[in-house]
Amino acid sequence: MGRALQKPVESAVLRTHPRMTFRAGGFSYEIVSDSRQSVYRVTDGKEILDEPILYAFGDAHVAQTYVFRHGGKLFEGRVSYYAAIDGLDWTVGDALHSPPSLKEAAGRDIDSDEARNCFSCHGTAALANGKLQLDNLIPGVSCEACHGPGEKHATAKLLETGADSVIFNPKTLDAETLSQEFCGACHRGVDSVAMMPDLGGINNVRFQPYRLFNSRGHDPKDPHLACTACHDPHLNLNQQDAGNDSHCKICHDPGTAAATLHVNRDNSAVAKRPGASSPGTKCPVADVKCVTCHMPKVEVPRSHFQFTDHRIRIVRPGEPYPY
Ligand code: HEC
Ligand code: HEC
Ligand code: HEC
Ligand code: HEC
Ligand code: HEC
Ligand code: HEC
Repeated sequence: MGRALQKPVESAVLRTHPRMTFRAGGFSYEIVSDSRQSVYRVTDGKEILDEPILYAFGDAHVAQTYVFRHGGKLFEGRVSYYAAIDGLDWTVGDALHSPPSLKEAAGRDIDSDEARNCFSCHGTAALANGKLQLDNLIPGVSCEACHGPGEKHATAKLLETGADSVIFNPKTLDAETLSQEFCGACHRGVDSVAMMPDLGGINNVRFQPYRLFNSRGHDPKDPHLACTACHDPHLNLNQQDAGNDSHCKICHDPGTAAATLHVNRDNSAVAKRPGASSPGTKCPVADVKCVTCHMPKVEVPRSHFQFTDHRIRIVRPGEPYPY
């Protein structure tokens, strides 16, 4: 998460792709980078709009989106980089097949609450007195975003309750508060999804705290189902072993060695965990690779990515996606 927001010169995508192009709806897009800067350029064949990229959002696990300033306002680029196609395509949620003007073809005006939110979730200390303060911004989700001091970021409300200590230790939170409110402040918990029209539609597969909360039979208060039971927020996803069977067997096949011993892929952590407070039954179908069937991959349209559905469940063929 430390690279959730980057200056263009720090973006590996931009450094290794000095020229990216995309063409659609009568417009041609180009992102050109050298060692000093990256420029986002759009033309309809007659006029050109080009601006230096201010920030690259996302480490391109899925995608990377570009934000630039035009006419004093912040814009989200209409096209983004996608890892799966190793190139540009419309930004998710932003496809506009015949944009009425060059400016609208270039990007979407986010110069209001929205920009504040983007920078608060992807950066640290983005706000000062509720206002966007890009000068003080630390790009990425840094230690401080999660460990305080807290008044400047998304989890401020929780951190304030951490009384007078400067360093906040999330270990002190109970499992449900950690998942739904602490991680959920950015990954979106059940309360924030409930306020979305249509519960966010199929896009809500991206909101892991919400999905997990609605897993039938699974108690959100159980520490073996907290986000941190499967994820170490200090490691990259590929260094974790989030899909390890031990995460399920601790409840569904307790008492076995596989249920209690968990080793991260980089061998950085070995944890023997206490037994489950709410044991479940054993699977009548298989004994390994639990998540491949019970946490299915779901493609978000246009994201070129299959997200892991954190709503743990029995998947029946032909059954619609459960909201
Ligand atoms: C301040 C906002 C914020 C908080 C709080 C937060 N995340 Fe994230 N998280 C992000 C963003 C933004 C990304 C996308 C990162 C990227 O593009 O590299 C992300 C990505 C991830 C990923 C994907 C792998 C990766 O490293 O890119 C995992 C797993 C994850 N977060 C788990 C957690 C867990 C567990 C918690 C709670 C302990 C948590 N996050 C709290 C903002 C946050
Ligand atoms: C409520 C917090 C929040 C807000 C607001 C937010 N993001 Fe994110 N964003 C996340 C989290 C958490 C992830 C990681 C999980 C995922 O991929 O859905 C993420 C992922 C991404 C990714 C994919 C990252 C990767 O490594 O593949 C991009 C690109 C992105 N966001 C761009 C933006 C932009 C641009 C804005 C503003 C227009 C924005 N986000 C607003 C929390 C947020
Ligand atoms: C996305 C949120 C997040 C970020 C970013 C983050 N941490 Fe943590 N950190 C946590 C959580 C959650 C825990 C508690 C984990 C647990 O329950 O075992 C934790 C625990 C710790 C602990 C152990 C505390 C204890 O009592 O065992 C240390 C030390 C620590 N973090 C240091 C750091 C440092 C240094 C950084 C920056 C490089 C950092 N963290 C970034 C969420 C985060
Ligand atoms: C029972 C284990 C488990 C729990 C609990 C869990 N995850 Fe995951 N998570 C996974 C697995 C498995 C993956 C897929 C890993 C991979 O592709 O390498 C994943 C992937 C992710 C990703 C990357 C995007 C994706 O869809 O692949 C994010 C972000 C994430 N989890 C956040 C969270 C958050 C936030 C919580 C707490 C609400 C959480 N997870 C709880 C197992 C878990
Ligand atoms: C904290 C303990 C706990 C953990 C961890 C846990 N489960 Fe469960 N699970 C339960 C309980 C309790 C039930 C309800 C009784 C039952 O059906 O066994 C349940 C129910 C289920 C069901 C049936 C759901 C339904 O709709 O009937 C499936 C499938 C399942 N779990 C799979 C998993 C998988 C896969 C994992 C790991 C990714 C996992 N569980 C992790 C406790 C847990
Ligand atoms: C090949 C796909 C597959 C794998 C792998 C798999 N399961 Fe299942 N599981 C199923 C199916 C299908 C059902 C529903 C069986 C039925 O009701 O006919 C099921 C049912 C369950 C149930 C509900 C049992 C009940 O009596 O209500 C639990 C709990 C469960 N699985 C846990 C797990 C765990 C834990 C693992 C890993 C050790 C696992 N599953 C691996 C496909 C799988």
